[in-house]
Amino acid sequence: MMNILVTGNLPEDLLAPISQVHALSVHRHDHPMAYAEISSAINDKDGLLCMITDRVDRHLLDKAPRLKVIANFGVGYNNIDVAEASKRHIMVTNTPDVLTDATADLTFALILSVGRRVVPGDRYTRRGKFRYWAPFHFLGAEITGKTLGLIGMGRIGAAVARRAAGFDMPVLYHNRRRLPSETERALGVDYADMEALLSRADFVSLHVPLTQETRHLIGADQLAMMRPEAYLINTARGPVVDELALLSALQEKAIAGAGLDVYENEPNLTAGLTALENVVLLPHMGSATEGTRRAMGAIAVENMAAGLEGKQPPHCVNCH
Ligand code: DGY
Repeated sequence: MMNILVTGNLPEDLLAPISQVHALSVHRHDHPMAYAEISSAINDKDGLLCMITDRVDRHLLDKAPRLKVIANFGVGYNNIDVAEASKRHIMVTNTPDVLTDATADLTFALILSVGRRVVPGDRYTRRGKFRYWAPFHFLGAEITGKTLGLIGMGRIGAAVARRAAGFDMPVLYHNRRRLPSETERALGVDYADMEALLSRADFVSLHVPLTQETRHLIGADQLAMMRPEAYLINTARGPVVDELALLSALQEKAIAGAGLDVYENEPNLTAGLTALENVVLLPHMGSATEGTRRAMGAIAVENMAAGLEGKQPPHCVNCH
């Protein structure tokens, strides 16, 4: 029997495969477990099933002499110092695939809601202001036929491209590696360099992981390349965008609007963002459907169980 710390409030039945075999200590609250609490609980733990909001850095790993597996509840694992974990032969795992559709769906929800002014329309109606219909009221952007620019073309970018086909949207993409031409054809996407993509797209949507290379990938210079009618959508990671630069671009109407699910200093928002009408702001809920979150939990548990048995977990990011 091994000791596992679970830092998120996951249902008992999902944890059963590991709770029947190992000793679990579960953070039974919805607010995140504090770094100091994790740090003082980790000393005798063999496994850490953590949330994307938990910072797992060198100092925390110093406190975890027995740790063998870090199973992240999420596909993105920028919260974990993987290089340090690897040095200590600790396996790091994530939960890809199962959240692709939910995240792509929410990306489209943001495209539609910011483009068609769904949120201001809802507010207006709730406040009792809908007293008459008028031919030029609440005009939004055309979505059908507009150009979508995808930065990052992994699983989620590709799923967004497939949805765009239903809206007859030409899709440009930029990625570290260009896709094989048959994949481009199958997805109906055209490769573009960053500058061409930013200057041509009506909607620019981000689908890159957060790494040193992608931090502030979208800053003042990139926003200046976008068209004044264009919208920025971010369901990836907040720090990919320089949020102060975005705020200025939005305030100056250098771009038409933004749909954001993630923030640079989450859960804090850059002051001024909430005062803007041309933004839709969501609380990092890209993968938040019951089915998806349960599937993520099941994979995290499966990764943990395999790793603690000395097998290679199904989704290990640092196993060779
Ligand atoms: C992830 O898995 O990385 C998502 O951001 C969580 O929804």
